[in-house]
Amino acid sequence: MITLAHISDLHFGRENPRLIEGLLHCLEKTTPQLVVISGDLTQRARKREFLAARTFLERLSWPYLVIAGNHDIPAYNLSERFFTPWKRWHRYLDHPLEPIVRAEEYIAVGVNTARRSGSLFDWSRGRVNLYQLDVIAQHFEKGGDEKLRILVAHHPFWLPEEYRHRHIIGGRDKALKKMRDAGVDIILSGHVHSAYTHLLGGLIVSHAGTAISSRLTRNDPNSFTIIRGDRRRLAIETWTWNNKKFSIDEHLVFTRIQGEWKDNS
Ligand SMILES: [Fe+2]
Ligand SMILES: [Fe+2]
Repeated sequence: MITLAHISDLHFGRENPRLIEGLLHCLEKTTPQLVVISGDLTQRARKREFLAARTFLERLSWPYLVIAGNHDIPAYNLSERFFTPWKRWHRYLDHPLEPIVRAEEYIAVGVNTARRSGSLFDWSRGRVNLYQLDVIAQHFEKGGDEKLRILVAHHPFWLPEEYRHRHIIGGRDKALKKMRDAGVDIILSGHVHSAYTHLLGGLIVSHAGTAISSRLTRNDPNSFTIIRGDRRRLAIETWTWNNKKFSIDEHLVFTRIQGEWKDNS
């Protein structure tokens, strides 16, 4: 059985130091085998924000997989945005944009869904393309049948009704089919700053809210999730902040039957 921590949308520049300490305290008690950080590490991709994010990553005592979000591309320096959008990411974090972590019990693959530009000048929207999907599928196909297959993408594959205005990731339907065929079990995402878990096409789609930033959406508190289990059964706990500490707010259980995940909560 493995234990994963999923944190997202740290937005350094808008971080709350108390939440950082509360989060790290919970992680120390949980001792995850992997911490997944699903993008938007910074508020405006400023140097000082990346350096604060790096200091945070250096405090993690566990293996981690981190991907970028739409906020990690410079917003105001347009020449940098369009010609070298990931220069600061590489300079200050020195981390691949599409990382892979393999272990005995899981394989986790990160995909970069943030783009330097978008339709209708909405640069917050994300996409995944066929080339990326082919590469991801090859990574999963090389993993053993018993390994939990985790895809990490910043942008949402599914949205609750109240968040439909945030837009589903571009290329979602093709991506979902491809990921199903590749045996993906769970897709971990952020961007919406709301915690929710949903079954989609036999896969689990699980979102963490913003873990430590003041960029709260509607009435959703700061949150992160702890995922425990294996390829047969997964328990997903949502931990939310109550102004003093993080505590468990929701506990869901899923089982995999004939290649399809079902809700057993
Ligand atoms: Fe965000
Ligand atoms: Fe985002």
